[in-house]
Amino acid sequence: MADLNGPKHVAIIMDGNGRWAQMRGRPRLMGHHAGARRVREIVEACPDQGVKYLTVFAFSTENWKRTQSEVAGLMSLFRRYIQREARDLLARGVRVRFIGDRVRLDDKLVTLMDELELLTSENDKVHLTIALNYGGRDEVARATKRLAYDVAAGKLDPKDVGDETLTQYLDTCFLPDPDLVIRTSGEARISNFLLWQSAYAEYEFIETLWPDFTKDVFADVLSGYQSRDRRFGAVKV
Ligand code: IPE
Ligand code: IPE
Ligand code: MG
Repeated sequence: MADLNGPKHVAIIMDGNGRWAQMRGRPRLMGHHAGARRVREIVEACPDQGVKYLTVFAFSTENWKRTQSEVAGLMSLFRRYIQREARDLLARGVRVRFIGDRVRLDDKLVTLMDELELLTSENDKVHLTIALNYGGRDEVARATKRLAYDVAAGKLDPKDVGDETLTQYLDTCFLPDPDLVIRTSGEARISNFLLWQSAYAEYEFIETLWPDFTKDVFADVLSGYQSRDRRFGAVKV
């Protein structure tokens, strides 16, 4: 059940789809499809776990380096995911938003993303943020560019620029910082995910491959979070 001390914002690097499929002698894309099904299960588990914000890393700015067929398969999966899940997300009170640079995404996908954001904009039960063509450095660079334009236009005084200012220019301006970042598949790195926002996040690196990440595994990771002592640089007295 929901715990008051549980994380309010959980961010997940959903890794290991390719290996999951390869272990079964199947194409990598099949792993991505299995992974997409887990997203639904984890979103559904959030209200019971007291998780108000769930942010998932679906495609990084570096993932374009993959084969053309894997990238095309992933883009098609994202389109189908939105079309298939939209009604259910709406009915479950999930507000969906996307972060990342949309410029490189195809028009059809961007239209579906815009429509889903609009469709679910009145929802408030769970806030699902999907990072698509997202990179932490790219996000900070784009934010800095917008900030510089505002300074040049006289809308912002450089004297007033501080850490809160940059936060407001980021794609994640509507989100609190993540309390917990989970990465599946045994890799202990963050691969350019939420660099600025995770300054004081707790990290959990687990061996489970993303398509095997059930709501029970999710619950286990969340209960482990309870025993952590978050000091934010201070000393507890
Ligand atoms: C994560 O799974 C999903 C994406 C990066 C799109 P991977 O595709 O990275 O799976 P592995 O790491 O190769 O097993
Ligand atoms: C990170 O996984 C990106 C996503 C989960 C979308 P990768 O599999 O792309 O990361 P690396 O290449 O192992 O660092
Ligand atoms: Mg990977």
